[in-house]
Amino acid sequence: MNDLTNKNILITGAAQGIGLGITKHALKNNASVIMLDSNNDLLEETSDALKSIHEGKVFNYNLDLMNDHAYISVINNFHNEFGNIHGFCNNAAASSGLGELHTFSNTDFDKTLDLSFKMLWLSLKCEIQYLTEKSLTASIVNISSNAALRGYANNSIYAASKAAVNSLTLSAAKELGKKNIRINAISPGTILTPGVENYFKQEPNAEDYLKSSILLNRIGTPEDIGNAVSFLLSEDSKYIHGQVISIDGGSSIY
Ligand SMILES: NC(=O)c1ccc[n+]([C@@H]2O[C@H](COP(=O)([O-])OP(=O)(O)OC[C@H]3O[C@@H](n4cnc5c(N)ncnc54)[C@H](O)[C@@H]3O)[C@@H](O)[C@H]2O)c1
Repeated sequence: MNDLTNKNILITGAAQGIGLGITKHALKNNASVIMLDSNNDLLEETSDALKSIHEGKVFNYNLDLMNDHAYISVINNFHNEFGNIHGFCNNAAASSGLGELHTFSNTDFDKTLDLSFKMLWLSLKCEIQYLTEKSLTASIVNISSNAALRGYANNSIYAASKAAVNSLTLSAAKELGKKNIRINAISPGTILTPGVENYFKQEPNAEDYLKSSILLNRIGTPEDIGNAVSFLLSEDSKYIHGQVISIDGGSSIY
């Protein structure tokens, strides 16, 4: 189940949080993993630790994904040196600023839209260009957010950006099906990442409040998302295409 043997899988934003969980799961399922992140110190630290366990199966590239020229070079360089890339997980995202919609600054709007939507679009463009030029099939997984489905008070532009990610996934699926390139999105609920852990420290009641709306009564882990991503990258999901799948302990139907 979820076997990724002989597959090269590229994961963006892999140095920590959900991206690291996805990386660990792909390695557990026998993939070789290309870890991409703009935070070089963290990327070196986490990739070195994984390299010592999974010898020869971990590659790391320090890259700002807003630079699509640099991203396509990384993809092509890897291909020329090590062979085809069989799967991509577009996980990296960030937002800027918090606040009610009417107080949100134009600068934070632009930054949030760039980092939560445009960056994924740029990545997807490079990946599809690469796959199309080389006539390769692949599975692509975009990481969205349940904020797109439920709204997010004080973070409305991030939520709207993720709704755009969902829509982009569906349109891409319509274009890519005929090329035998599968694409899906995972929509996580609240996941215990370093950022969420910090938030729980600052707001002691937040964890219990959030848990009360999760039907399975626990906050998700990066491994929960990693498990689902490995499945979508593997042949076990070969007839799943153009879907946005919530991994959230049932919070989206609460
Ligand atoms: N944590 C949650 O509860 C949660 C819930 C729903 C969706 N998500 C989504 O899951 C994904 C991962 O979230 P996370 O909480 O693990 O985030 P995180 O901030 O812990 O990790 C994101 C990683 O992306 C990297 N990154 C950011 N900008 C980059 C850039 N320009 N170029 C290259 N790398 C860059 C960061 O350095 C970081 O290592 C995001 O798409 C996020 O929107 C998270």
